[in-house]
Amino acid sequence: MKVIIDTDPGIDDSWALLLAIRSPEVQILGVTTLYGNVTTKMATKNALYLLELFGRPDVPVVQGSETSLTGEPQNHIADFVHGDDGFGNTRRSNPRGTAVPGKTAAEFIVETVNAHDPREVTVIALASATNVAMAMRLDPGMAKRGLRVVHLGGAFRVNGNVNPAAEANVFCDPEAADELYGSGADVTVIGLDVTERLFLTRADLDAMRTTNDESTNFLRDISEFYVQFHERAVEPSFSGMFMHDPAAVLLAFRPDLFTIERGAVRVECEKGALCRGQTVFDEGVKRWTFANAWTEEGRGRVGVAVDVDAKGVMDVFR
Ligand code: BDR
Ligand code: CA
Repeated sequence: MKVIIDTDPGIDDSWALLLAIRSPEVQILGVTTLYGNVTTKMATKNALYLLELFGRPDVPVVQGSETSLTGEPQNHIADFVHGDDGFGNTRRSNPRGTAVPGKTAAEFIVETVNAHDPREVTVIALASATNVAMAMRLDPGMAKRGLRVVHLGGAFRVNGNVNPAAEANVFCDPEAADELYGSGADVTVIGLDVTERLFLTRADLDAMRTTNDESTNFLRDISEFYVQFHERAVEPSFSGMFMHDPAAVLLAFRPDLFTIERGAVRVECEKGALCRGQTVFDEGVKRWTFANAWTEEGRGRVGVAVDVDAKGVMDVFR
């Protein structure tokens, strides 16, 4: 499977990248970067470092947007979750390479997708939907030609993780997510309903100490900060970490491990409201009296991950 990975590394993004690199089913055409866990510039530096450390310096890295789709500056940087370097304050990011010059992430996505049959390329978006939505604006035809997008975002039947309403990736750019989910592309969204059931324990991380693998040792080291965040944010006995972004990579090539339902997804984009960034899924079970915002053309095709074979997924990660 040919993929472009759009990412804000980030601790779980780092796990996701190594999973993609170590999976023979996956061919990475490029990595594009975005703000979220860190600034866009830091995400670019970290993506370059990870690809070098993981033995794939040949994969092109293209720097993405420094603003949201509507032009707002990068906000809500999650340094308290991932450290101010995105690597749990381990200060390890020291890449030799540089990003592809003179090209935006959106331009790279359009060029790369159109160099193939769009149905053959999956964009795996592990941060906000900004770069992908910008690419869709540049070439809306990609959606009609069957481009596949897997987005890590949203919280449908569970609370969000930045506030009760919103999940972080959608919260950072609600307009981009709403535009992507309504684009008509073959979009699958995997949110906290599923990823908060995928939990790597401190014991799992300790077990990794027996390896001589520089890449997995790196993941273990940067994850300490992330585990401490979970202990603070959830509860002290919650000693481990959610595997959000790796789950989106796995969903792209092992959909058999997930249950997907199809319907319309909308994002609350009202500014200043309590529920900005909330994702609402209409599985189409009921016949609504007033539901125009959900039923307008193109909005019926989004796949939403609603269940998971958690043991099967965690076996792959381990
Ligand atoms: C998402 O937010 C980020 O912290 C993670 O990398 C993941 O993409 C989970 O809400
Ligand atoms: Ca991420």
